[in-house]
Amino acid sequence: MRAEAATPLFRVDDMRVAYGAIAAVKGVSLELNAGEMVCLIGANGAGKTTTLNAIAGLLPLAGGRIAYAGEDIGALPAHQRVRRGIALVPEGRGIFTRLSVEENLRMGAYARADDDAIDADLARVCGLLPRIGERLAQTAGTLSGGEQQMLAIGRALLSRPKLLLLDEPSMGLAPRIVEQIFEVVRSVQAAGVAVLLVEQNAHLALEFAGRGYVMDSGRIVLAGAAESLLADPQVRAAYLGQ
Ligand SMILES: Nc1ncnc2c1ncn2[C@@H]1O[C@H](COP(=O)(O)OP(=O)(O)OP(=O)(O)O)[C@@H](O)[C@H]1O
Ligand SMILES: [Mg+2]
Repeated sequence: MRAEAATPLFRVDDMRVAYGAIAAVKGVSLELNAGEMVCLIGANGAGKTTTLNAIAGLLPLAGGRIAYAGEDIGALPAHQRVRRGIALVPEGRGIFTRLSVEENLRMGAYARADDDAIDADLARVCGLLPRIGERLAQTAGTLSGGEQQMLAIGRALLSRPKLLLLDEPSMGLAPRIVEQIFEVVRSVQAAGVAVLLVEQNAHLALEFAGRGYVMDSGRIVLAGAAESLLADPQVRAAYLGQ
């Protein structure tokens, strides 16, 4: 195999993140290949959101490295990471409830200057997410929870990501809606976007992702193929309620 073929798109190496004196992420290492879907599961407070937010550039590193497409991006501001193709769909969705659906979507393109292509991408996202496309002029705060989650994903897609960071997309949604959202995520991945999926719903995450990492108290405690994690007695007892 040629060396460059083995280089992952994205690699986090011994990342540490702290809130003041409180260490929340204590040496996390993980990697993703282009177009791969990988999940990060773990209990409340394990450090999953902190990990995603630090990757997106919303929190500074207290140690370690983040490499993306061969570049060390660990010190770049968030908007420069967006420009390189890393997009976060944050925990709680981060919708601007008083703005219209279209304004929310266009926020996702804030780091871009190619206006014509933005319009084309807006149309494409509306095709992928018809319920959002039908409601462009509506105030975003009037959308249902599922629609707001779709909108948050659509907004991230407007930045043309190569790596999508998804924080608990199923949170608070009915199973039928969750299924629709995961089908959307699957088609985004099928289009070649790598997805790092954080979920408390470990079963769902391992059903959709090819590989998974299990996080506990700021560390990765287990990693492997989704099928082997689903079969792992420790995972079953701790995260799958079996
Ligand atoms: N802004 C903050 N200030 C101080 N401590 C924080 C802050 N945000 C998170 N923490 C702490 O950092 C640790 C990791 O939190 P984090 O939100 O990353 O976990 P999580 O795995 O996403 O949990 P959840 O499943 O509840 O979303 C927890 O102990 C949490 O209390
Ligand atoms: Mg979280």
